[in-house]
Amino acid sequence: MYSRIIGTGSYLPEKVLTNFDLEKLVDTTHDWIFSRSGIVERHIAADSELTSDLALQASLRAIAAAGIGADEIDLVIVATTSPDQVFPSTACILQDKLGIRNCGAAFDLQAVCGGFVYALTTADLFIRAGRAKTALVVGAEVLSRMLDWSDRSTCVLFGDGAGAVVLRASGRPGIVAGKLHADGSHRGLLQADGNIRNGEVQGDPFIKMDGKGVFKFAVKVLSEVVEEVLEENNLQGSDISWLVPHQANIRIMEATAKKLGLSMDNVVVTVAHHGNTSAASIPLALDTAVRDGRIKAGQNILLEAVGGGFTWGAVLMEW
Ligand code: ACO
Repeated sequence: MYSRIIGTGSYLPEKVLTNFDLEKLVDTTHDWIFSRSGIVERHIAADSELTSDLALQASLRAIAAAGIGADEIDLVIVATTSPDQVFPSTACILQDKLGIRNCGAAFDLQAVCGGFVYALTTADLFIRAGRAKTALVVGAEVLSRMLDWSDRSTCVLFGDGAGAVVLRASGRPGIVAGKLHADGSHRGLLQADGNIRNGEVQGDPFIKMDGKGVFKFAVKVLSEVVEEVLEENNLQGSDISWLVPHQANIRIMEATAKKLGLSMDNVVVTVAHHGNTSAASIPLALDTAVRDGRIKAGQNILLEAVGGGFTWGAVLMEW
């Protein structure tokens, strides 16, 4: 038994914040941001929009693309680091908003920017084990509410958005392999250490990052995990039709593609238009490349991501 993606969808909030807009907020320039990250603009959720609202729009599009009814979904996993509230999970809220009444499990998965590869691998394992038939796997974030808008080293890099896929049991792959890793000893490089205690937020509720440390760590572990997946499946970089990386930063994507011996012509890059949307970035990029016809039946697709934790992983698929 395998699992296959049968529909993709994505959603970006209406409000766009360009690098030029940011020049008016903090001491930065479009050229600095673009040359360091490849980002041109990011989308910001409206005050009334919650992570589950973004997830709902992306999910409705993925469900429509799959041509199924929402009530056929028996597993909902939402990868997010910016849930609607402490509890219940955003997945349960999404399940209710979608009107899925006879769901199996619904839960959030928190692996920061590694969240979507973690969630997709988890859903694949549920399906392979016969515990679910049709899974909705979502990456959704409203990171703008976790940013210190006076800290130029972080606020220019992130954005809000959501992406979703419908994953269904199938006699042929589909997902061929998923590799996940974690190393909590580096958690100080990227974190929001705030927590609730005695009715107040203790610590720092905003994202703090050692940019250079993250960059070095990300390139190292992404290259390693991608090589690991290829080697185990007797493939080379040249066998990959499309690399769909976590959209954090164009320079990390370029460095990983180079180590793989892959041309940037085979890398799906959407970071310019939404910045780093954490767990949402891979399904956003995937949906873009599916809808514009770049991703076609029979191709080998490789997803890879790294995020706070640290968590990292890769998923290999036949489309
Ligand atoms: N505008 C202008 N100057 C800035 C800005 C800004 N927005 N932010 C920082 N600077 C300044 C710093 O204060 C510093 O100044 P100083 O030298 O006077 O102290 C200087 O720029 C640092 O410049 P660089 O060394 O050129 O910065 P670097 O090339 O390391 O780029 C960046 C910084 C973009 C954060 C880079 O390290 C990076 O991409 N890191 C990876 C971060 C990332 O992708 N995180 C995403 C989350 S994790 C994940 O998703 C994998």
